[in-house]
Amino acid sequence: MVLSAAGIRFPIWAQAGTSVAGAGRLLLGVDYYPDQTPEALWEEDSRMMAEVGFTNVRIAEFAWALMEPAEGKFDFAWLRRAVEILHKHNISVILGTPSAAPPPWLMVRYPDVVEVNAQGERLHPGGRRFTCPTNQVYRRLSLSIANAMAREFADTTGVIGWQIDNELTLSSSQRCYCNFCQAGFQAWLRSKYGSLDNLNKSWGTVFWSQTYTDFSQIPVPLPSGGDPNPGLALDYDRYQSYANVSFQEEQLVMLRKTCPHHFVTTNNVGLPLDTIDLRSLYEKLDFVAFDNYPGFFEMLLHQEANGPISPDTIPANIALGHDFARSIKGGKPFMIMEEQSGKAGQRTFSPQPEKGQVRLWTHQAVAHGAMGVNYFRWDTATFGAEEYWHGILNHDRSKSPGYVEIKQAVGELKALGPEVLNSNYAADAALVFDYDCSWAVKIQPGHHALSYMAQVTSWYGAISASHTGIDVIAPGADLAPYKIVFAPVVYVLSEAQASKIKSFVQGGGMFVTNFRLGVKTESSQIVRTPLPGPLRDVMGVTVADYVPIYSAKQGVKFSSAFAGPDGQCGIWADILQPSGAEVLGSYTSGEHAGEAAITMNSFGKGKAVYIGADLDAGSLSRVLRTLSATSGVKQPFDVPPGVELTVRKSGDKQWIFLLNHTSVAQTVSIPKPLTDLLTKEAYSGTIELRGYGVRVLS
Ligand code: GLA
Ligand code: ZN
Repeated sequence: MVLSAAGIRFPIWAQAGTSVAGAGRLLLGVDYYPDQTPEALWEEDSRMMAEVGFTNVRIAEFAWALMEPAEGKFDFAWLRRAVEILHKHNISVILGTPSAAPPPWLMVRYPDVVEVNAQGERLHPGGRRFTCPTNQVYRRLSLSIANAMAREFADTTGVIGWQIDNELTLSSSQRCYCNFCQAGFQAWLRSKYGSLDNLNKSWGTVFWSQTYTDFSQIPVPLPSGGDPNPGLALDYDRYQSYANVSFQEEQLVMLRKTCPHHFVTTNNVGLPLDTIDLRSLYEKLDFVAFDNYPGFFEMLLHQEANGPISPDTIPANIALGHDFARSIKGGKPFMIMEEQSGKAGQRTFSPQPEKGQVRLWTHQAVAHGAMGVNYFRWDTATFGAEEYWHGILNHDRSKSPGYVEIKQAVGELKALGPEVLNSNYAADAALVFDYDCSWAVKIQPGHHALSYMAQVTSWYGAISASHTGIDVIAPGADLAPYKIVFAPVVYVLSEAQASKIKSFVQGGGMFVTNFRLGVKTESSQIVRTPLPGPLRDVMGVTVADYVPIYSAKQGVKFSSAFAGPDGQCGIWADILQPSGAEVLGSYTSGEHAGEAAITMNSFGKGKAVYIGADLDAGSLSRVLRTLSATSGVKQPFDVPPGVELTVRKSGDKQWIFLLNHTSVAQTVSIPKPLTDLLTKEAYSGTIELRGYGVRVLS
């Protein structure tokens, strides 16, 4: 009653079965592999999971070979016994459909289902995720095993929901380039463009003699004697995304029919966010779920950077993943389907989580809008490709260092309860994340060092440090709820998005963008108007020239609005010619010395800011934070560097999360008395956070 008065509604699956205080199911669980564990241990495992306080497991997503040992011959007896034992210990079950790893018999009988990578090489069985999303045979077989599972478990007490497949597109090239995909692409193009004439014009196929006279002539972007047509390449990314989404939807349609009382979701890889259009992937699913491995991600960054990475990088990247997950379904709370619980790794180990970090990561997810967390994984495998991936039990089944923290975090989240876990997230600011821009920049970066994902991440990091709640929105999203909208590298700009930006600024919003604005149409053709194309009036500037930067260095001098030391311009400089906009920064050297690098235009009741220079991290952060403050975004109070602050709200209640991502104690001044809901201690004046400590204040 109280919860629905506060605007919280629980879906049908959350109302049935286990509930806490009658209000919504908790999803605080663990990823479990009974298929990889001697049956004699299932009872002990279930009992120990119940001791931790877990409410659920996710199982079976890699057990196709056991569930269908030969084509059409199903064996679910073992799985049913596992579900029963778990349920006896009050542990509910999320079942995974197993299409991410087909059994060997299938590969012998249907070798054509393999993925072909970006070099045109056929992948080989022996790993996982080596199949094609378009292939009809693979779709039929995937649907058949999922359907058999669904019929078997539709009415089984204890089963509550489904994860379709596992981390779609996490393959070697994230795209398949096989003949089936080529045919699928051609059919998709036929329905998108209607006629070849339309397609030829849209891509500009007259260039290099590529005019198509039949849809069957259209290739996929495999290595050729030169780069592919940019329009074709961008459409291929869109097609591959569509193919994966429709692969999933076949299973979803079946699950909705057969298991109407179960929830259905899928787990995506989280970072990087741009392998597939996650907004369409989750459109028809009940909620977003993704896999969160801060330590593994840190290991990957170290491998890429081959040197030290700044301490803020990981928390900011992880927070971006969470904010994106929450924003995919317009702010709806999401679930972490796999949360790192110890050292992670396949061939090499990630850093060992420091004491307190596993609990901190759990609360960080909730602080950004998670309603449930499943840890990966219960025990640590002694065989297979992930022997190094540490779970909650070690190889010898002793309790891992993460055990105590996980038990504590689960207890804390239960005590906070469903109202907090299902509350909203307070964001006055938005960051635009656009798949078209990400993919188009990958196809033609313009400068080898330009990466859309890196730009988005560094903008997010710069803004989030000021504790501005940020939604990560689609280019077509409604901008009205926000005071300020950040949109880096809007390389592809549709007329529709331009007009949304225009009305937003006209109505009093602040729009902040940077170089390469409005360069391309949605067909990936360059606009024929002076840049920034359709936003010239809003921005109040014309791009007089654009300069990729290599050995010649460029600097930026700031006006008093952004007072501070001169900035470095990294890889790009848009030279701005104001036609009404005020100049807030100018270039310092070379033939463009003195010309505008940063401008702000008053348009209607709002402001539009163009940052033409690729600013160094310090300058970018100062500029974006100043703009945030100018736009009227307010946070409850300041916190020291390395401490994260987020706010969740429900009706007139609010919860302030304080997360210390540093290893040392931090002191925070608070403007009014607050109570820590985790410890029930009341504070006024200041509050202490131990290294990697967490407070949830109300
Ligand atoms: C992924 C997968 C899991 C497992 C873990 C650890 O995110 O979904 O199956 O492989 O990571 O690698
Ligand atoms: Zn394919």
